[in-house]
Amino acid sequence: MNKINDLREKSALAKLGGGEKRIAAQHKKGKLSARERLQLLLDEGSFEEIGMFVNHRCRDFGMENESYLGDGVVTGYGTVNGRLVYVYSQDFTVFGGSLSETHAEKIIKIMDLALQNGAPLVGLNDSGGARIQEGVVSLGGYADIFYRNVQSSGVIPQISAILGPCAGGAVYSPAITDFILMAENTSYMFVTGPNVVKTVTHENVTSEELGGAQTHASKSGVTHFACANEVEAIENIKQLLSYMPQNCEEDAPVYDYEAGNEVRETLNNIIPENPNQPYDIKEVIGEVVDSGSFMEVHKDWAENIVVGFARIAGRSIGIVANQPAYLAGVLDINASRKGARFVRFCDAFNIPLLVLVDVPGFLPGTDQEWHGVIIHGAKLLYALSEATVPKVTVITRKAYGGAYDVMNSKHIGADLNYAWPTAEIAVMGAKGAAEIIFKKEISEAADPAAKLKEKELEYIEKFANPYGAAARGFIDEVIMPADTRAKLIRGFKMLENKVAKMPKRKHGNIPL
Ligand code: HXC
Repeated sequence: MNKINDLREKSALAKLGGGEKRIAAQHKKGKLSARERLQLLLDEGSFEEIGMFVNHRCRDFGMENESYLGDGVVTGYGTVNGRLVYVYSQDFTVFGGSLSETHAEKIIKIMDLALQNGAPLVGLNDSGGARIQEGVVSLGGYADIFYRNVQSSGVIPQISAILGPCAGGAVYSPAITDFILMAENTSYMFVTGPNVVKTVTHENVTSEELGGAQTHASKSGVTHFACANEVEAIENIKQLLSYMPQNCEEDAPVYDYEAGNEVRETLNNIIPENPNQPYDIKEVIGEVVDSGSFMEVHKDWAENIVVGFARIAGRSIGIVANQPAYLAGVLDINASRKGARFVRFCDAFNIPLLVLVDVPGFLPGTDQEWHGVIIHGAKLLYALSEATVPKVTVITRKAYGGAYDVMNSKHIGADLNYAWPTAEIAVMGAKGAAEIIFKKEISEAADPAAKLKEKELEYIEKFANPYGAAARGFIDEVIMPADTRAKLIRGFKMLENKVAKMPKRKHGNIPL
């Protein structure tokens, strides 16, 4: 009986982490404890803990006198909406959630199980990075984790929530995973914190400005989601998982769907009369996907492109769409990076792609050229070209220049290419085109302005429509906007068993 009581005592102690006082301090900052977070994430009663009695081995700097069962991380497995996930949840109340040799070993054990058993890994990060007292063994522990993140990439989905101040190694593991979520005002990500920044660059910056949720959601693009609080972050993780398969060899779950009237008349009235007037592509998305199923990713970064998950007839799809309401939907460095990364996730996990096109081209200028828009733009081109999942395109309005090629054109392997009657498929806008090809005629005309207008209209007549492309089969069908949803349902159904193989090779060399 004593042994039973001993076990009960030890378990109770382990569950307390760094103690009630420190948990209360977490609550005061608007943070939950490591175990409370797991309770919110996992189905009730489904959590199985692994490694509860692990303790650190450090005997330096007085550490032999200070230890906590579990060593600052709760690890195990459980279910989210009935589906298996592997989890770790760092406990800031124990040495700031810092990563010791044993803390790393616990995470590694879970990562190996997740990879071998083909189920997602969810990391709830709240850590001051490598445990300073342990030196190289904690650095080694991080590298062991990074290595496994890379081995798992494209095999199982990996999701990282940042739920506290995460520094050093604590940000590089999330950076390798597929999606990052942060909680506003309580979570930070930086390689080095404000004190080091001040010493090295003499900049005065707060933690929030340097690496808060809004900073990473809108400036750096490091986080995919800035959530109002931890509860919202955990709800978003559950929703994200619902679009994904368990691993790269499975399909995403299929949700109930009852066929009804799929004609959406409102789509006929979205494109403005004036081709230069903006409209919100999210209105189009909302009408073509299953009601309320769109989950936007990277909402506040590179808003000129919209990416996210949705369902069509109960099945997951990934959407990449130019956004005419922001910078006219132009492609630039960040939009290309954002689109490419999302496409590669979808392709790795068998999630079909829908690409909505209204793009005036790539953004010109020294800023873009000097920062490498050539290389970064090529990422999106490469990612869409290499994707072998079903790929469907709808051109709603402009498809100009190189951006026509890039945005899932037939030429780079799209399976179905639709265009609305409002589509304009040309090398460039009519005015710019007329100025170049009729330069001499215009300059010699009695009224150059009138001549330019005349030539502009001539160019519009020839190219500002989808029929030239349809005549060559680059567009499969010109469709009424209202029929788009019905076409997509049938099209994706027809492509359900698509098999497309890439040439044998070790791996491609995407322009990173
Ligand atoms: C050991 C740590 C620790 C660490 C925090 N603590 N970070 N212990 N190793 N890395 C301990 C503190 O000593 C403190 O213990 C408790 O955690 C809470 O920390 P506070 O500083 O009081 O909290 P806060 O003010 O919220 O600041 C959090 C923080 C800060 C921003 C994370 O603690 C910090 O800057 N820590 C160091 C970050 C860092 O440089 N890590 C190493 C990165 S190098 P007590 O007992 O007082 O409560 C790295 C290498 C990997 O990670 C490289 C990969 C490429």
